[in-house]
Amino acid sequence: MKQLEIKSSIGESKIFVGETLANVTKYLPQNRKIAIITDPVIHSLYGEQFPKADVVIEIPRGEANKSLQSLDVVFEQLIAHEFDRTSFILGIGGGIVCDMSGFIATIFMRGIEFGFVSTTLLSQVDASVGGKNGVNFRGYKNMIGTFNLPKFVICELNILKSLPQSELLSGMGEVVKHGAIANEQLFSYIENHVADLQNYSLEVLETFVYESIVIKSNVVSNDVRESGARRIFNFGHTFGHAIEKITKMPHGYAVSVGMVYAAKLSVLKGKMAQKDCDRLITLLQNLGLPTSCEVGPEELLTVMKCDKKRDGDSVHFVYLTGIGSCCVEKVSYVELAKYIGDLC
Ligand SMILES: NC(=O)c1ccc[n+]([C@@H]2O[C@H](COP(=O)([O-])OP(=O)(O)OC[C@H]3O[C@@H](n4cnc5c(N)ncnc54)[C@H](O)[C@@H]3O)[C@@H](O)[C@H]2O)c1
Ligand SMILES: [Zn+2]
Repeated sequence: MKQLEIKSSIGESKIFVGETLANVTKYLPQNRKIAIITDPVIHSLYGEQFPKADVVIEIPRGEANKSLQSLDVVFEQLIAHEFDRTSFILGIGGGIVCDMSGFIATIFMRGIEFGFVSTTLLSQVDASVGGKNGVNFRGYKNMIGTFNLPKFVICELNILKSLPQSELLSGMGEVVKHGAIANEQLFSYIENHVADLQNYSLEVLETFVYESIVIKSNVVSNDVRESGARRIFNFGHTFGHAIEKITKMPHGYAVSVGMVYAAKLSVLKGKMAQKDCDRLITLLQNLGLPTSCEVGPEELLTVMKCDKKRDGDSVHFVYLTGIGSCCVEKVSYVELAKYIGDLC
């Protein structure tokens, strides 16, 4: 097991990579009420291994249920079980469960403590680490939410074995992103271990998760509210979020296409060599992730303009300057319109 820490202006969080669900009890506060929030799949697969709790609350799966409406029954249950300010919430699940349980814990009684057992690759390398939580609102993703760090995050590796390949691959989109923006060694490690991923090798998964969190925790510790350095994690997401919204493809798949478009733009603007762009495309293809999509430039640009990270007429755009390095510069939508036809 490996341990990491986020120490930020809004609090601290301990992250345990390779710890097991069976050991979670030792991280929970004693003599305090515990609520587990989970989804029906995780509950049925791993419910027997859940730690002792006063109540287990299931939230329905899917982005459509990551909503304010779904919170209602959770608060009802917490109140029915006489939860108070000293109570603790444990989210056991993927990104949706973690985002929602963090949000619930932050607003219930003006805030109670919480922790996560993160059960998808995507949530281990991204969603559960970094203090962002919240829900969607009328089609706008993660529009209502807060920044708040869990006391702990447990990244169970064995549990990833029951993840469908498509979910594992979606998480790999974010792992490749981490290598591409900040760590060439991680990038080449992925290049050399594509086959091991298909076999769910625990050693390889541990490296992917650990190295990703090293990158994310270092940056988030200094910029938890994303006013500067944290923006680098948006690489591939300016295009990716729009592609996800239009095509409904899984998040990491859309980010994969978005990274290719962003890398191509980096080449067109003279920031990165063509060979590095080709290297990124080859790795994504070898993993089985998409590198293009059917969305036309006009539709893509229109939806990109609805980005919640938009800053007036422009957006902070993450360019690659090589494999393992990047820079962030503001780009106007007018300028993006000039290039977008050459990217798609
Ligand atoms: N807070 C952040 O910084 C942040 C970052 C990235 C993504 N997100 C959010 O994360 C969400 C996506 O997360 P996700 O991809 O984990 O999706 P998810 O939580 O919907 O999980 C994907 C599916 O896998 C199932 N599942 C979970 N763990 C499993 C396991 N071990 N075995 C078998 N099935 C399992 C779930 O029931 C679900 O159907 C999005 O809502 C996104 O907005 C948040
Ligand atoms: Zn993402």
